[in-house]
Amino acid sequence: MIFGRVKSLDAILATAEKKSLHRSLGAFQLTMLGIGAVIGTGIFVLTAEAAQKAGPGMMLSFVIAGFVCAVAALCYAEMAAMVPVSGSAYTYSYAVMGELVAWMVGWALILEYAIAAGAVSVGWSGYFIGWLNSSFHISVPLDLVRGPFDGGMINLPAMVIAALVTALLIKGTKESATVNAVLVGVKILALAMFVILTIPVIKTGQFTPFAPLGFAGISGAAASIFFAYVGFDAVSTAAEETKNPQRNMPIGLIGSLAICTIFYLLVAAGVIGTVGAQPMFGAGGEHLSPGTPGLSAACQAIQENAVVCSKEALAWTLKQVGHPFIGWLVGAAAIIALPSVILMMMFGQTRIFFVMSRDGLLPELFSRVHPKFHTPHVITMLTGLFVTLFAAFFPVGLLADVSNSGTLFAFAAVSIAVLVLRRTDPNRARPFRTPAIMITAPIAIIGCIYLFFSLSQATILLFVGWAVVGLIVYFAYSRSRSHVGLGRDEVHEPEAYDDLEPPVPGTR
Ligand code: ALA
Repeated sequence: MIFGRVKSLDAILATAEKKSLHRSLGAFQLTMLGIGAVIGTGIFVLTAEAAQKAGPGMMLSFVIAGFVCAVAALCYAEMAAMVPVSGSAYTYSYAVMGELVAWMVGWALILEYAIAAGAVSVGWSGYFIGWLNSSFHISVPLDLVRGPFDGGMINLPAMVIAALVTALLIKGTKESATVNAVLVGVKILALAMFVILTIPVIKTGQFTPFAPLGFAGISGAAASIFFAYVGFDAVSTAAEETKNPQRNMPIGLIGSLAICTIFYLLVAAGVIGTVGAQPMFGAGGEHLSPGTPGLSAACQAIQENAVVCSKEALAWTLKQVGHPFIGWLVGAAAIIALPSVILMMMFGQTRIFFVMSRDGLLPELFSRVHPKFHTPHVITMLTGLFVTLFAAFFPVGLLADVSNSGTLFAFAAVSIAVLVLRRTDPNRARPFRTPAIMITAPIAIIGCIYLFFSLSQATILLFVGWAVVGLIVYFAYSRSRSHVGLGRDEVHEPEAYDDLEPPVPGTR
């Protein structure tokens, strides 16, 4: 039976009990954790792409994407609190829907994490180049700072930052809660300065036409800008370390999402109302998609003098409204803070690979731990290699969209798993129960499906291609080597695993 291979939830929970962590996180720390993981390339960079897709209507896109995230987060939290072990969505699916679904979720999570790390690296590169230019008047040739779809050849700064973060992860750098709090402060301060300087000089005329590409444009932008909210699952996975999770978990999740949504809306309003956010069209009146040579050429023709052309949308906007120094500071904030988002994403990826390898679905080599650094160096290097290559050649918007496709698939699977488990195992202890599950979970599932199909056709095709490759790998390699399949349903964590502490608390 194809869905028959289920990992026993009790065996998984036995592991969790063995390694149970100290419950120390309160609502405030959880909210900080969420904001730290969430604010990044999405708002700093993709605002320009959202404008190109939806015009001022992107404000609605931010609300839609935030809402879908909030309902998905509430479902995620029930699972995370009930099954607080490594591997998040992959492990939950294994216990509830069996190995094949778990494999597909794990395979999709590769898109979520590794491709997202590539996207944030490219976003970082845009700010770094702009900042170099405004600080030292250094103009690096376009060929070396943009990929081939974006009017260049290779994105060297994005490769360098991805490689540096890989090296840090191999060495086993830990980002303490204090560093996380400082970075959250830097990001919030940067966004707050932006809002304070732009909102008072908004011109309401800039908001019309509000939706030049109709509701389809708004949906497309929502599917892309969903990226700006990804990362909140870090809060859900901290369930085991949370005091009174029934109270603090929803506060942490909804609180961090609400704060981010408010900031995002204010920032979007600041961009739209000051420099305008109308999309660019080609000579024949056709809409130009972000991250395509067509838009790149149209932007070069106007010396990139529009926010939809900018690779550092917020810094650029501040310069346009007469605050070059604050623009420079906001650029510096992005340069300092974005690498920690890359770190969390790459860490998440190595953890997923690690758990899949431990289950026998991926080669054992992947879970090998470095004797000195106590980190899974082989898989970290492999992940780093791919992230570096994605960052080198692909535009930020495409990477973010592809990452979203994987995330949406995983979130939908988790929302289904929560519902199924309420039916099949109603009496199991649930430290956190999703409120109004019969409404919340279906809305989350429908919301994820709606956003998934609002992605570009190319992205959906890439996802389908990736899923087919995943199925081939599963049936050709993993299925016959699966520990569950071989009857070795033990869920022990190897000794060395205990050393693999997350770089930020709660990002397991
Ligand atoms: N939400 C994260 C970002 O926007 C992934 O960079």
